[in-house]
Amino acid sequence: MGQIDTSMRSYLTAHPDLKFLFFGGKGGVGKTVAAGVTGQWLASQGKRTLLASTNPVHSLSGLLSQDVFGKHTPVAGMPNLWAYEIDTKDTIERSKVEIREKIQWFLKFADISTKAEEFVESATMNPAFEESAMFENMVELMLKGEYDSYVFDTAPTANARRLLGMSKVYSLWVNKMLKSREEAKGLRELLSFTKKKEADPLMDYLISFRHRMEQARVRLTDPAQTAFFFLTLPEALPIAVITRFIGWFHEFGIPVGGVIVNMLIDKAQVRPDSPEFVRNRVAMQDRYMEDIWQKFDGMVRATVPLYETEVRGADSMRRMGEALFV
Ligand SMILES: Nc1ncnc2c1ncn2[C@@H]1O[C@H](COP(=O)(O)OP(=O)(O)O)[C@@H](O)[C@H]1O
Ligand SMILES: [Mg+2]
Repeated sequence: MGQIDTSMRSYLTAHPDLKFLFFGGKGGVGKTVAAGVTGQWLASQGKRTLLASTNPVHSLSGLLSQDVFGKHTPVAGMPNLWAYEIDTKDTIERSKVEIREKIQWFLKFADISTKAEEFVESATMNPAFEESAMFENMVELMLKGEYDSYVFDTAPTANARRLLGMSKVYSLWVNKMLKSREEAKGLRELLSFTKKKEADPLMDYLISFRHRMEQARVRLTDPAQTAFFFLTLPEALPIAVITRFIGWFHEFGIPVGGVIVNMLIDKAQVRPDSPEFVRNRVAMQDRYMEDIWQKFDGMVRATVPLYETEVRGADSMRRMGEALFV
Protein backbone atom coordinates (compact mmCIF):
# COMPACT_ATOMS: atom_id res chain seq x y z
CA MET A 1 0.00 0.00 0.00
CA GLY A 2 1.37 3.38 -0.97
CA GLN A 3 1.35 6.56 0.97
CA ILE A 4 1.47 10.31 0.51
CA ASP A 5 5.03 11.69 0.64
CA THR A 6 4.25 15.31 -0.11
CA SER A 7 0.73 16.41 0.73
CA MET A 8 -1.16 19.20 -0.99
CA ARG A 9 -0.41 21.44 1.96
CA SER A 10 3.33 20.59 1.90
CA TYR A 11 3.48 21.14 -1.84
CA LEU A 12 1.88 24.58 -1.64
CA THR A 13 4.01 25.51 1.35
CA ALA A 14 7.15 24.44 -0.52
CA HIS A 15 6.06 26.60 -3.49
CA PRO A 16 5.25 29.94 -1.84
CA ASP A 17 5.34 31.85 -5.14
CA LEU A 18 2.89 29.54 -6.87
CA LYS A 19 0.57 31.80 -8.79
CA PHE A 20 -1.21 29.73 -11.43
CA LEU A 21 -2.99 26.56 -10.37
CA PHE A 22 -4.95 24.38 -12.75
CA PHE A 23 -7.13 21.34 -12.21
CA GLY A 24 -7.42 18.75 -14.94
CA GLY A 25 -9.06 15.39 -15.39
CA LYS A 26 -12.07 13.67 -16.89
CA GLY A 27 -15.52 15.24 -16.59
CA GLY A 28 -17.22 14.80 -13.22
CA VAL A 29 -14.16 13.81 -11.18
CA GLY A 30 -14.28 16.95 -9.01
CA LYS A 31 -12.14 19.57 -10.77
CA THR A 32 -14.49 22.42 -9.94
CA VAL A 33 -14.88 21.51 -6.29
CA ALA A 34 -11.13 20.91 -5.87
CA ALA A 35 -10.38 24.26 -7.50
CA GLY A 36 -12.94 25.97 -5.26
CA VAL A 37 -11.60 24.39 -2.09
CA THR A 38 -8.00 25.20 -3.08
CA GLY A 39 -8.99 28.80 -3.82
CA GLN A 40 -10.67 28.98 -0.45
CA TRP A 41 -7.53 27.62 1.25
CA LEU A 42 -5.15 30.01 -0.53
CA ALA A 43 -7.43 32.92 0.36
CA SER A 44 -7.44 31.80 3.99
CA GLN A 45 -3.63 31.95 3.89
CA GLY A 46 -3.90 35.65 3.07
CA LYS A 47 -3.47 35.44 -0.70
CA ARG A 48 -5.73 37.53 -2.86
CA THR A 49 -7.08 34.76 -5.03
CA LEU A 50 -9.14 34.63 -8.18
CA LEU A 51 -11.06 31.44 -8.79
CA ALA A 52 -11.78 31.39 -12.51
CA SER A 53 -13.70 29.10 -14.80
CA THR A 54 -13.56 28.88 -18.56
CA ASN A 55 -16.26 26.27 -18.49
CA PRO A 56 -19.54 27.29 -20.18
CA VAL A 57 -21.51 25.38 -17.54
CA HIS A 58 -22.21 27.58 -14.50
CA SER A 59 -20.55 25.20 -12.09
CA LEU A 60 -18.74 27.82 -9.97
CA SER A 61 -21.95 29.72 -9.33
CA GLY A 62 -23.49 26.41 -8.29
CA LEU A 63 -20.61 25.47 -6.00
CA LEU A 64 -20.58 28.87 -4.30
CA SER A 65 -24.37 29.32 -4.36
CA GLN A 66 -23.72 32.76 -5.76
CA ASP A 67 -23.90 34.35 -9.20
CA VAL A 68 -20.31 34.88 -10.33
CA PHE A 69 -20.99 34.99 -14.06
CA GLY A 70 -19.26 37.53 -16.28
CA LYS A 71 -17.47 39.57 -13.61
CA HIS A 72 -14.97 39.21 -10.78
CA THR A 73 -17.23 38.70 -7.77
CA PRO A 74 -16.15 38.74 -4.12
CA VAL A 75 -17.18 35.43 -2.60
CA ALA A 76 -19.50 35.91 0.37
CA GLY A 77 -17.98 34.86 3.68
CA MET A 78 -14.57 34.08 2.17
CA PRO A 79 -12.27 37.11 2.48
CA ASN A 80 -9.55 37.42 -0.20
CA LEU A 81 -11.46 35.20 -2.61
CA TRP A 82 -13.02 36.37 -5.86
CA ALA A 83 -14.73 34.14 -8.38
CA TYR A 84 -15.29 34.65 -12.06
CA GLU A 85 -17.03 32.57 -14.68
CA ILE A 86 -15.75 33.74 -18.01
CA ASP A 87 -18.54 34.59 -20.43
CA THR A 88 -17.80 32.27 -23.35
CA LYS A 89 -20.21 33.93 -25.79
CA ASP A 90 -18.90 37.40 -25.06
CA THR A 91 -15.28 36.27 -25.38
CA ILE A 92 -15.97 34.66 -28.74
CA GLU A 93 -17.89 37.69 -30.02
CA ARG A 94 -15.08 40.05 -29.03
CA SER A 95 -12.53 37.81 -30.75
CA LYS A 96 -14.63 37.83 -33.91
CA VAL A 97 -14.81 41.62 -33.90
CA GLU A 98 -11.04 41.85 -33.49
CA ILE A 99 -10.42 39.41 -36.31
CA ARG A 100 -12.87 41.24 -38.57
CA GLU A 101 -11.07 44.54 -37.98
CA LYS A 102 -7.70 43.00 -38.77
CA ILE A 103 -8.91 41.30 -41.91
CA GLN A 104 -10.62 44.48 -43.13
CA TRP A 105 -7.50 46.46 -42.47
CA PHE A 106 -5.36 43.92 -44.26
CA LEU A 107 -7.60 43.77 -47.34
CA LYS A 108 -7.46 47.54 -47.56
CA PHE A 109 -3.70 47.52 -47.11
CA ALA A 110 -3.27 44.94 -49.85
CA ASP A 111 -5.77 46.69 -52.13
CA ILE A 112 -7.97 43.63 -52.33
CA SER A 113 -11.59 44.47 -52.97
CA THR A 114 -13.19 41.39 -51.45
CA LYS A 115 -15.72 41.44 -48.66
CA ALA A 116 -14.03 40.66 -45.33
CA GLU A 117 -17.03 38.60 -44.23
CA GLU A 118 -16.02 35.45 -46.11
CA PHE A 119 -12.62 35.42 -44.49
CA VAL A 120 -14.07 36.12 -41.08
CA GLU A 121 -16.48 33.21 -41.46
CA SER A 122 -13.81 30.74 -42.42
CA ALA A 123 -11.47 31.94 -39.68
CA THR A 124 -14.06 31.67 -36.92
CA MET A 125 -16.32 28.80 -37.93
CA ASN A 126 -14.42 26.03 -36.22
CA PRO A 127 -14.36 24.69 -32.67
CA ALA A 128 -10.63 25.36 -32.32
CA PHE A 129 -11.39 29.06 -32.67
CA GLU A 130 -13.64 29.05 -29.60
CA GLU A 131 -11.11 27.09 -27.64
CA SER A 132 -8.28 29.41 -28.50
CA ALA A 133 -10.43 32.49 -27.83
CA MET A 134 -11.01 31.14 -24.30
CA PHE A 135 -7.35 30.33 -23.96
CA GLU A 136 -6.36 33.85 -24.95
CA ASN A 137 -8.82 35.18 -22.43
CA MET A 138 -7.16 33.07 -19.76
CA VAL A 139 -3.72 34.30 -20.79
CA GLU A 140 -4.95 37.89 -20.59
CA LEU A 141 -6.18 37.23 -17.06
CA MET A 142 -2.86 35.64 -16.09
CA LEU A 143 -0.78 38.49 -17.46
CA LYS A 144 -2.80 41.27 -15.84
CA GLY A 145 -1.46 40.22 -12.48
CA GLU A 146 -4.26 41.68 -10.37
CA TYR A 147 -4.17 38.81 -7.87
CA ASP A 148 -1.59 36.88 -5.86
CA SER A 149 -2.90 33.58 -7.13
CA TYR A 150 -5.18 32.28 -9.84
CA VAL A 151 -7.01 29.00 -9.65
CA PHE A 152 -8.51 27.70 -12.88
CA ASP A 153 -11.13 25.00 -12.57
CA THR A 154 -10.28 23.42 -15.91
CA ALA A 155 -6.83 22.73 -17.25
CA PRO A 156 -6.59 23.92 -20.85
CA THR A 157 -4.81 20.68 -21.60
CA ALA A 158 -5.02 20.64 -25.36
CA ASN A 159 -4.30 24.34 -25.63
CA ALA A 160 -1.40 24.42 -23.20
CA ARG A 161 0.08 21.53 -25.05
CA ARG A 162 -0.51 23.17 -28.40
CA LEU A 163 0.86 26.49 -27.19
CA LEU A 164 4.10 24.98 -26.05
CA GLY A 165 4.45 22.56 -28.90
CA MET A 166 3.75 25.31 -31.38
CA SER A 167 5.54 28.18 -29.73
CA LYS A 168 8.85 27.58 -31.49
CA VAL A 169 7.27 27.08 -34.88
CA TYR A 170 4.99 29.98 -34.20
CA SER A 171 7.80 32.30 -33.24
CA LEU A 172 9.64 31.46 -36.45
CA TRP A 173 6.49 32.07 -38.45
CA VAL A 174 5.79 35.44 -36.84
CA ASN A 175 9.38 36.50 -37.34
CA LYS A 176 9.12 35.64 -40.99
CA MET A 177 5.83 37.52 -41.31
CA LEU A 178 7.35 40.50 -39.60
CA LYS A 179 10.33 40.49 -41.89
CA SER A 180 8.29 40.37 -45.08
CA ARG A 181 5.96 43.05 -43.73
CA GLU A 182 8.91 45.25 -42.88
CA GLU A 183 10.12 44.85 -46.44
CA ALA A 184 6.73 45.60 -47.95
CA LYS A 185 6.39 48.63 -45.74
CA GLY A 186 9.86 49.87 -46.63
CA LEU A 187 9.03 49.59 -50.30
CA ARG A 188 5.77 51.51 -49.93
CA GLU A 189 7.48 54.23 -47.99
CA LEU A 190 10.21 54.39 -50.59
CA LEU A 191 7.70 54.72 -53.42
CA SER A 192 5.48 57.27 -51.76
CA PHE A 193 6.31 60.95 -52.00
CA THR A 194 5.58 61.70 -48.40
CA LYS A 195 8.05 60.07 -46.06
CA LYS A 196 5.63 59.87 -43.13
CA LYS A 197 5.53 56.58 -41.24
CA GLU A 198 2.48 54.46 -41.88
CA ALA A 199 0.57 52.89 -39.05
CA ASP A 200 0.62 49.12 -39.28
CA PRO A 201 -1.96 47.61 -36.93
CA LEU A 202 -1.42 44.09 -38.24
CA MET A 203 2.27 44.20 -37.48
CA ASP A 204 1.60 45.74 -34.07
CA TYR A 205 -0.81 42.92 -33.40
CA LEU A 206 1.67 40.22 -34.46
CA ILE A 207 4.34 41.69 -32.23
CA SER A 208 2.08 42.00 -29.21
CA PHE A 209 0.61 38.52 -29.75
CA ARG A 210 4.05 36.96 -29.95
CA HIS A 211 5.03 38.82 -26.82
CA ARG A 212 1.94 37.67 -24.90
CA MET A 213 2.37 34.05 -25.94
CA GLU A 214 6.01 34.13 -24.94
CA GLN A 215 5.13 35.57 -21.54
CA ALA A 216 2.49 32.89 -21.10
CA ARG A 217 4.95 30.20 -22.09
CA VAL A 218 7.53 31.42 -19.58
CA ARG A 219 4.97 31.40 -16.77
CA LEU A 220 3.36 28.10 -17.71
CA THR A 221 6.68 26.26 -17.74
CA ASP A 222 7.99 27.69 -14.46
CA PRO A 223 7.43 25.24 -11.57
CA ALA A 224 7.83 28.07 -9.05
CA GLN A 225 4.78 29.84 -10.53
CA THR A 226 2.65 27.16 -12.11
CA ALA A 227 1.25 23.79 -11.15
CA PHE A 228 -1.24 21.54 -12.88
CA PHE A 229 -3.05 19.17 -10.53
CA PHE A 230 -4.82 16.14 -11.89
CA LEU A 231 -7.90 14.63 -10.36
CA THR A 232 -8.85 11.03 -10.62
CA LEU A 233 -11.22 8.53 -9.08
CA PRO A 234 -10.08 5.01 -8.23
CA GLU A 235 -11.50 3.83 -11.55
CA ALA A 236 -10.05 2.77 -14.89
CA LEU A 237 -11.12 5.60 -17.19
CA PRO A 238 -10.20 8.63 -15.06
CA ILE A 239 -6.82 7.04 -14.37
CA ALA A 240 -6.23 6.47 -18.10
CA VAL A 241 -7.15 10.09 -18.85
CA ILE A 242 -4.73 11.65 -16.41
CA THR A 243 -1.98 9.20 -17.30
CA ARG A 244 -2.16 10.54 -20.83
CA PHE A 245 -2.29 14.17 -19.69
CA ILE A 246 0.67 13.79 -17.35
CA GLY A 247 2.68 12.18 -20.14
CA TRP A 248 2.03 15.16 -22.41
CA PHE A 249 2.84 17.64 -19.71
CA HIS A 250 6.16 16.03 -18.88
CA GLU A 251 6.99 16.00 -22.56
CA PHE A 252 6.40 19.73 -22.85
CA GLY A 253 7.99 20.72 -19.58
CA ILE A 254 4.78 21.94 -17.94
CA PRO A 255 4.98 21.51 -14.17
CA VAL A 256 2.74 18.80 -12.77
CA GLY A 257 1.83 19.62 -9.17
CA GLY A 258 0.48 16.17 -8.45
CA VAL A 259 -2.50 13.86 -8.37
CA ILE A 260 -5.60 14.12 -6.19
CA VAL A 261 -7.70 11.02 -5.69
CA ASN A 262 -11.34 11.86 -5.12
CA MET A 263 -14.44 9.99 -3.94
CA LEU A 264 -12.79 7.21 -1.96
CA ILE A 265 -15.37 5.24 -0.02
CA ASP A 266 -14.64 5.36 3.70
CA LYS A 267 -13.89 1.78 4.67
CA ALA A 268 -14.55 2.42 8.33
CA GLN A 269 -18.23 2.59 7.40
CA VAL A 270 -18.28 -0.69 5.50
CA ARG A 271 -18.99 -3.93 7.35
CA PRO A 272 -19.34 -7.51 6.20
CA ASP A 273 -23.12 -7.07 6.33
CA SER A 274 -23.06 -3.89 4.23
CA PRO A 275 -24.90 -4.18 0.88
CA GLU A 276 -23.06 -6.21 -1.71
CA PHE A 277 -23.06 -3.21 -4.05
CA VAL A 278 -21.04 -1.21 -1.52
CA ARG A 279 -18.63 -4.07 -0.75
CA ASN A 280 -18.01 -4.57 -4.48
CA ARG A 281 -17.33 -0.89 -5.02
CA VAL A 282 -14.86 -0.89 -2.15
CA ALA A 283 -13.05 -3.93 -3.55
CA MET A 284 -12.90 -2.26 -6.95
CA GLN A 285 -11.53 0.96 -5.46
CA ASP A 286 -8.91 -1.06 -3.58
CA ARG A 287 -7.67 -2.57 -6.80
CA TYR A 288 -7.46 0.77 -8.58
CA MET A 289 -5.78 2.39 -5.60
CA GLU A 290 -2.94 -0.10 -6.03
CA ASP A 291 -2.68 1.05 -9.64
CA ILE A 292 -2.64 4.66 -8.53
CA TRP A 293 0.08 4.22 -5.93
CA GLN A 294 2.18 2.41 -8.46
CA LYS A 295 1.61 4.69 -11.45
CA PHE A 296 1.79 7.98 -9.59
CA ASP A 297 4.43 7.09 -7.05
CA GLY A 298 5.35 10.18 -5.01
CA MET A 299 2.82 12.32 -6.88
CA VAL A 300 -0.34 11.68 -4.88
CA ARG A 301 -1.09 14.81 -2.84
CA ALA A 302 -4.38 13.87 -1.23
CA THR A 303 -7.15 11.31 -1.04
CA VAL A 304 -10.61 12.77 -0.58
CA PRO A 305 -13.51 10.67 0.69
CA LEU A 306 -16.82 10.26 -1.09
CA TYR A 307 -19.31 12.31 0.91
CA GLU A 308 -22.94 11.43 1.45
CA THR A 309 -23.96 14.58 -0.45
CA GLU A 310 -22.51 16.66 -3.26
CA VAL A 311 -20.05 19.44 -2.40
CA ARG A 312 -21.96 22.74 -2.49
CA GLY A 313 -21.70 25.83 -0.35
CA ALA A 314 -19.20 27.05 2.24
CA ASP A 315 -19.74 24.33 4.86
CA SER A 316 -19.24 21.33 2.59
CA MET A 317 -16.31 23.11 0.95
CA ARG A 318 -14.68 23.59 4.32
CA ARG A 319 -15.22 19.91 5.11
CA MET A 320 -13.57 18.91 1.85
CA GLY A 321 -10.78 21.39 2.63
CA GLU A 322 -9.97 19.38 5.73
CA ALA A 323 -9.41 16.30 3.58
CA LEU A 324 -7.57 18.08 0.77
CA PHE A 325 -5.32 20.04 3.10
CA VAL A 326 -4.76 17.61 5.97
N1 LIG B 1 -15.71 13.87 -2.63
C1 LIG B 1 -16.93 14.08 -3.09
N2 LIG B 1 -18.01 13.55 -2.45
C2 LIG B 1 -19.25 13.76 -2.91
N3 LIG B 1 -19.55 14.46 -4.01
C3 LIG B 1 -18.52 15.00 -4.71
C4 LIG B 1 -17.18 14.84 -4.28
N4 LIG B 1 -16.38 15.50 -5.17
C5 LIG B 1 -17.20 16.04 -6.09
N5 LIG B 1 -18.49 15.75 -5.82
C6 LIG B 1 -19.67 16.12 -6.60
O1 LIG B 1 -19.53 15.52 -7.89
C7 LIG B 1 -20.03 16.34 -8.92
C8 LIG B 1 -18.93 16.62 -9.94
O2 LIG B 1 -17.93 17.45 -9.37
P1 LIG B 1 -17.28 18.65 -10.20
O3 LIG B 1 -16.31 19.33 -9.34
O4 LIG B 1 -18.36 19.48 -10.79
O5 LIG B 1 -16.56 17.82 -11.35
P2 LIG B 1 -15.82 18.39 -12.65
O6 LIG B 1 -15.60 19.85 -12.47
O7 LIG B 1 -14.54 17.60 -12.73
O8 LIG B 1 -16.72 18.05 -13.80
C9 LIG B 1 -20.54 17.59 -8.23
O9 LIG B 1 -21.91 17.45 -8.01
C10 LIG B 1 -19.79 17.59 -6.90
O10 LIG B 1 -20.51 18.26 -5.88
MG1 LIG C 1 -16.23 21.51 -13.65
